[in-house]
Amino acid sequence: MSKIRVLTVFGTRPEAIKMAPLVKEFEKFSDKFESMVCVTAQHRQMLDQVLSLFEIKPDFDLNIMKPNQDLWTITAEVLVLMKDVIEKSKPDIVLVHGDTTTSMAAALSAFYAKVPVGHVEAGLRTFDKYYPFPEEINRVFADAVCTYHFAPTDTSVENLVKSAIPKEHIYKTGNTVIDALLHTVTNNKADLSYIGLNPNLKTILLTSHRRENFGEPIKNICKAVLELVENNKDIQVVYPVHLNPNVQKPVHELLDGVERVHLIEPMEYAPFSTLMKESHIIMTDSGGVQEEAPSLGKPVLVLRSTTERPEAVEYGTVKLVGTDTKKIVKEVQNLLDNKDEYKKMSESINPYGDGLASQRIVEIIAKELG
Ligand code: UD1
Ligand code: UDP
Repeated sequence: MSKIRVLTVFGTRPEAIKMAPLVKEFEKFSDKFESMVCVTAQHRQMLDQVLSLFEIKPDFDLNIMKPNQDLWTITAEVLVLMKDVIEKSKPDIVLVHGDTTTSMAAALSAFYAKVPVGHVEAGLRTFDKYYPFPEEINRVFADAVCTYHFAPTDTSVENLVKSAIPKEHIYKTGNTVIDALLHTVTNNKADLSYIGLNPNLKTILLTSHRRENFGEPIKNICKAVLELVENNKDIQVVYPVHLNPNVQKPVHELLDGVERVHLIEPMEYAPFSTLMKESHIIMTDSGGVQEEAPSLGKPVLVLRSTTERPEAVEYGTVKLVGTDTKKIVKEVQNLLDNKDEYKKMSESINPYGDGLASQRIVEIIAKELG
């Protein structure tokens, strides 16, 4: 019997983290699968950090990243360059992840080549085309083009059904991010001493990089940080700053040199997971962090007005606070002062997965294409 040829495509940090456990799972069954990896390198440094942690050597590297790149260029380059990769690798299935422009364009490229596509983390929605931008439309588009839909939760399954995706092609698998997190936390001896955190202070971890937060919103977030450290001498804030120049510039302008604020380079995934575990509160606009933090029992304040990940909001461990300076300060202060509120939000829950999502996806592909 011939092997199933699987081409896994990803380009950014979060896709790499969430696809790595799947690539590793295919490797375990090399008798059944010919597993190939194509990275677009929409991210370069932040992608390479993950490739080296999970020891993944891509078969194809499109190396597309340019400083301050735009959506048109990413889309066009991935769409065109993937044609050649698909012709060379002759996959039976192409796998893409989530909602990045890499995923959308790679799915379209495979569709044009009439190769079936599987969408990992399918069915997330805010139902607002500009929030998050361009991710909401990227994932709608990917879901339309794909044949196999690997949905993480009941809500994402329902969203796919509402989008008229045939039920027999929707599989609830859990989110592979939990596979990655459990693997990393379990095998993790990360040393955080280089950050210079004071063990006697409470740590607030901050990440922010969304396009719709560029400009005033990101400045408002920084202003909230300034107020919080001024008003609370027992806290410190650590912010691994995303390499996007639209993030780097305002953040460094407003927060460089501020006492008890640590602006650091994007962290490798292993130390970052340790830092999440050791933090008191997490403030973020990241999708992945919203999924990981609840399973570590950390309260998350989301710096966005809407989320495609409503499950942890419903449980009460994640709260949408938006990007208004006063509102952020009020919500963080409340968590710092109110023990009951903190306790309620720091209950450990796992609505996004049980660590077995990759295993399920591999089994489904073996059954469907074997
Ligand atoms: C991208 C995704 C977003 C995802 C985020 C995860 C799109 C349109 N956006 O946004 O959905 O949430 O990744 O982080 O797909 N840069 C570097 N080195 C890196 C990475 C980025 O220098 O390793 C800089 C470059 O100047 C690059 C810029 O950041 O041009 C923007 O990267 P890009 O992938 O276009 O956007 P992100 O904001 O990272
Ligand atoms: N992450 C990391 N180092 C950092 C910040 C985040 O490894 O310095 C991880 C985080 O744990 C999560 C993923 O990167 O798994 C989220 O990526 P990002 O926030 O860039 O993108 P999003 O999830 O919003 O698309």
